[in-house]
Amino acid sequence: MCNKIVLVLVVVAIGKCHIHNKFPENFKFGVASSAYQIEGGWNANGKGENIWDHFTHNFPNSTADRTNGDIACDSYHLWKNDIALLKYLNVSFYRFSISWSRILPTGFTNTINLDGVRYYNNIIDELIRNKIEPMVTLYHWDLPQPIQDIGGMTNPLIADYFVDYATTAFYFFGDRVKTWITFNEPIKICLQGYENGLYAPGIKSRGIGCYLCSKTLLLAHANTYHVYKSYFKSVQHGKVGIAIDSDWYEPKTNSKEDEKSVERVLQMNFGWWINPIFSKGGNYPRIMRERIDKFSKTQNFSISRLPVLTSSEIRTIKGTYDFLGLNHYSSKLVKARTSLLSRMPSFDNDVRVDIETDPNWEKSALELMPVVPWGLRKLLNWIRKMYNNPTVYITENGYPDKGGLDDEDRISYHTQYLNELINAIRDGCNVQRYTIWSLMDSMEWTSGYKIKFGLYHVDFSDENRPRTPKKSASFYKNVIRDHGVPNIKRNIN
Ligand code: BGC
Repeated sequence: MCNKIVLVLVVVAIGKCHIHNKFPENFKFGVASSAYQIEGGWNANGKGENIWDHFTHNFPNSTADRTNGDIACDSYHLWKNDIALLKYLNVSFYRFSISWSRILPTGFTNTINLDGVRYYNNIIDELIRNKIEPMVTLYHWDLPQPIQDIGGMTNPLIADYFVDYATTAFYFFGDRVKTWITFNEPIKICLQGYENGLYAPGIKSRGIGCYLCSKTLLLAHANTYHVYKSYFKSVQHGKVGIAIDSDWYEPKTNSKEDEKSVERVLQMNFGWWINPIFSKGGNYPRIMRERIDKFSKTQNFSISRLPVLTSSEIRTIKGTYDFLGLNHYSSKLVKARTSLLSRMPSFDNDVRVDIETDPNWEKSALELMPVVPWGLRKLLNWIRKMYNNPTVYITENGYPDKGGLDDEDRISYHTQYLNELINAIRDGCNVQRYTIWSLMDSMEWTSGYKIKFGLYHVDFSDENRPRTPKKSASFYKNVIRDHGVPNIKRNIN
């Protein structure tokens, strides 16, 4: 009898070390990448120039190490090898993006580059052969340069050309691609591209360009959704969504002003995009509309810097989603700003909050990306309450470091975020997928090759670009195998 009790205790103790927080049965795991960051082949076989080619070639100082994506991970040639990496992880899906200029070199549908079509057909077919679902982003920041030459995203007519491009992709690939993401991170496209000019196309038009860009982008997204629904959905049976990024924001103090600032920053960063598409009433968040209208007047503009969405445009945009793609990495502290309104227009001046991080939060290689796992749970619950609990796919979550195969910090980051994700699902948040950014180290935009997010290391000094799994690759493989993540609370206990 006594022996039996001892045995039971031992079994319980061993069991505890292996206790996993499980995900719901239909929950899916994947990894992500984007065309400009991994493909290379920037002018191979008929591909046209895009804004990142143009930006990095003409302004080499815009990246930290004066590099560019001309070769990047050379996935243009090594795509088959990359699918073997995915197979090793055993992911259910792979999120990658199509380079618009690779299939439409001028940006317009007057010329179709069959080599580009063949390239993506090969990838899609090989993924399906390996039972990995392709999840395709149509636009991950690489606008064709000829389209930029006529104003890019600040030209409202570009919305129609985007729909043409998307239709081309549905036509060629939609028989096998069932999950489409129109745009990746609209706020980065508009702010970094047309407000502060840090990213391609490098336009500095503070307080004006970003708002023109947002109207074009929202209409391009919405009309793409409608075209898919009217002409493709009944035959192809796929889903269309958008990937919006947001940090979580926490008030610096418990003062009323700081709490109001948190709501404002959430509305003006995230609500800017999610409200027109996912809210019952549509349109930009009320606070955004009112503030920018008022500030524009004070600053002597004849019309609001935030272009009006007509009631027909509001109706067109509202409800155009089958899922919400959420990119989330980190959290910030928010403090009310007390200085007077500046006469110089800018997005920052319109929002008017001060943002910082808490020195007590665990650090990563990027100052603005501390590790704050509970922020994910708070953000997901905010979405659930504000937007009627939409289906959410986490389309990016990742940890930046400076390299090394023994990436324990990345494992710790994902263990903590996955635990908080399970908590959010238990709270009732309807999250169905999780995607690690990124499959492999890649061209990290203005950070060049200095910052790494990959589960696989890529040796960029070797022309063959060999890939090597990091420790985090086996960690993720095990998460997928167990359909769960080690329960940190119990392990700590
Ligand atoms: C982007 C990725 C980028 C990642 C890490 C996201 O904002 O979608 O392209 O590499 O963050 O910075």
